[in-house]
Amino acid sequence: MNKHATADLKATRILGGVATDQRHDSAHKHVTGTAVYIDDMPEPAGLLHACLGLSTVAHGTIRSIDLSAVRAAPGVIDVLTGHDMPGSNDISPTGRADEPVLATGIVQFFGQPVFAVIAESREQARRACRLAKIDYDEKPFVTDVWDMDRRAGKLVTDPLTLKRGDAAAAIEAAPRRIKGTMRLGGQDHFYLEGQIALAVPGEDMDVTVFSSTQHPSEVQHMVAHVLGVPSHAVTVEIRRMGGGFGGKETQGNQFAALAAVAAKKLGRAVKIRPDRDDDMTATGKRHDFVIDYEVGFDDEGTILGVDYFYAARCGFSSDLSGPVTDRALFHCDNTYYYPAVRAQSAPLYTNTVSNTAFRGFGGPQGMIGCERVVDEIAFALGKDPLDIRRKNFYGTTDRNVTPYHQTVEDNIIHRLVDELEESADYQGRRRAIADFNAGSSVIKRGLALTPLKFGISFTATHFNQAGALVHVYADGSVHLNHGGTEMGQGLYVKIAQIVAEEFQIDIDQVKITATTTGKVPNTSATAASSGSDLNGMAAQAAARTIRDRLCDFAAEKYGVPHEQIEFLPNRVRVGNQEIAFGELTQQAYMARVQLSATGFYKTPKVRWDRDKGEGHPFYYFAYGAACAEVSIDTLTGEYVVERTDILHETGRSLNRAIDIGQIEGGFIQGMGWLTTEELVWDDKGRLRTHAPSTYKIPLASDRPKIFNVTLADWPEAHEPTVHRSKAVGEPPFMLAMCVLHALSDAVAAVGDHTVCPRLDAPATPERVLMAVERVRAQTGA
Ligand code: MTE
Ligand code: MOS
Repeated sequence: MNKHATADLKATRILGGVATDQRHDSAHKHVTGTAVYIDDMPEPAGLLHACLGLSTVAHGTIRSIDLSAVRAAPGVIDVLTGHDMPGSNDISPTGRADEPVLATGIVQFFGQPVFAVIAESREQARRACRLAKIDYDEKPFVTDVWDMDRRAGKLVTDPLTLKRGDAAAAIEAAPRRIKGTMRLGGQDHFYLEGQIALAVPGEDMDVTVFSSTQHPSEVQHMVAHVLGVPSHAVTVEIRRMGGGFGGKETQGNQFAALAAVAAKKLGRAVKIRPDRDDDMTATGKRHDFVIDYEVGFDDEGTILGVDYFYAARCGFSSDLSGPVTDRALFHCDNTYYYPAVRAQSAPLYTNTVSNTAFRGFGGPQGMIGCERVVDEIAFALGKDPLDIRRKNFYGTTDRNVTPYHQTVEDNIIHRLVDELEESADYQGRRRAIADFNAGSSVIKRGLALTPLKFGISFTATHFNQAGALVHVYADGSVHLNHGGTEMGQGLYVKIAQIVAEEFQIDIDQVKITATTTGKVPNTSATAASSGSDLNGMAAQAAARTIRDRLCDFAAEKYGVPHEQIEFLPNRVRVGNQEIAFGELTQQAYMARVQLSATGFYKTPKVRWDRDKGEGHPFYYFAYGAACAEVSIDTLTGEYVVERTDILHETGRSLNRAIDIGQIEGGFIQGMGWLTTEELVWDDKGRLRTHAPSTYKIPLASDRPKIFNVTLADWPEAHEPTVHRSKAVGEPPFMLAMCVLHALSDAVAAVGDHTVCPRLDAPATPERVLMAVERVRAQTGA
């Protein structure tokens, strides 16, 4: 019997099963500073510290490089360049070989890592970095897609076209047409814990790397590639990240590879933790876009045909720009049916840091384009944008085929929007705001309700797989491991709940363990919001295997049929007796029953033919809707979000407390992207917004004054996911579109809603003010 068990053997319900409001497993450690991040780990004896030397031009060939002063600086042990990589000087995640660990010969953006200093202390490494003398032959460069010929620019990867029907003909034949262009900014991830890696050399070829990464298997693969050793020599481990948000899907590779190379070369452990400025300068961000659109519609506001051109600033290498710009196109429809559509992507090369994954992975940018189109139609017809939205919603039995030819089968947007419209009192407030604005010349209020539909699955079909490893010890306590990573989103606790539920044991009997490539191999990034869907199923499968073995064992030992064996909370009923779970596992161990199992899952149904632009890339869709009310000061452009109401779909939520946190956090992060977070590159190609002093993420005081979040936990209408829950990591980010549109509505009030403000993002106070001035000029208000 388990001596340590606190389990209640008469309980009618286990503690912390699925669909309970279980707190985040580390919440108390986060708030008391006892959660161990990589920089908190006890440092190995003889630890060395690395620092990156960054290029000081945006584009140029390296004429000469003199690192003698760097080498001679106090505490410096070694200096590495791209020529010191024992295997390959390449960390391109797509195999295009377009991304060096350290640049050699040519630099392609201001801030590109050119060398790395290894010193006794972090401070010494940082100081030594400044002593390099590098002579560049500077070349012309381009940083902004706005300034270039977007239809003819150099691409970093293959563009995509989605097509259904004849968009050009439909637009041509439509009673009304509008054409426009929209600009949409990028975003820094601003994870609280920056990038970090700690490499500890082992014997032979071995190295263990602690890496703040969403994708340990890729770090393993990259480190092996750069070292020129097989994957088996490299073990990558991560207990938790202090935020990832997509910024640690590929961006950790560089730090891990450098730490590993230095550690193997010098035979000492090496840690690299860039400070915030270097982190913001040298790692990729959300792609900013310029979107050209043309739409044909009728007098009622029904869209007849639409044509989009999505041009993205990708930076100097491909990284994930292919799949990100693809996903933008996959969301150019949001919740709307297009009878005829063409959407094209242009993943453009620029002399900036290579942009990467960020919550929503291009989806938000895709949707923003189409919501602008809705706004244009509404203003052209003098209607409430909500009416135009509703009119164009996907149908439930017809008008339900997407631009990529997948039929939408789980559409609940009508019900979501109806319920939110009611609970947020949209119509009542619409009238109240009109009255308010009529009597207020300086402060104007605005209101908007925006829907959202987000496709769940990796569009690269092979990523939709996951593995898990579960051990049950003889005392009945459980060791849980899976391929997913924890970045604050609550994945670990959700999977522990699933395993506790399978064995019917309290969650404190399930030990959550760090993700490591040594336990579960060939994993996918924890990304695309699929962490709990994939790893939850894999862990459930592993637990079921062991449970079945326990069942077989009990049936045989006690001579009862399987039907008479039941897992009750913390105990098992075998015939007419009840045995504590830890007692049964002890008996099973004595009888030599294997109490360890792996589990595996692959998502059914998904397929995607990129060349044809057709398939079923998403297993299902997640839906939501949000309504925001804002007030703007038309003399300064400053604004306040007065109120936000959200109704967001979670399926049968695995953990409502965690899901509400994801929805609130996602919304606020999305609001930051669309309002105050602005990235500025100067005429030297230098990122000027590389610290919190110049880059403004939302503060607690920026949150909506009234913030109502309701879960639409309706399990009926969708695929059999794990316990019928739905992915919740990314979709709520896009709820924030309502803030941009509410701001647009408030700006439009200046001109009595007669002209579309065409408010671009981020809608900083300056941009709001400029839009107000534009509307004033156009309407003579
Ligand atoms: N929530 C927190 N607290 N921190 C994060 O870094 N990343 C987001 C989202 N929520 C993130 C987060 C992103 S980009 C994704 S893809 C999902 O979490 C990944 O986790 P999941 O698949 O388990 O939802
Ligand atoms: Mo999330 S952008 O898929 O890591």
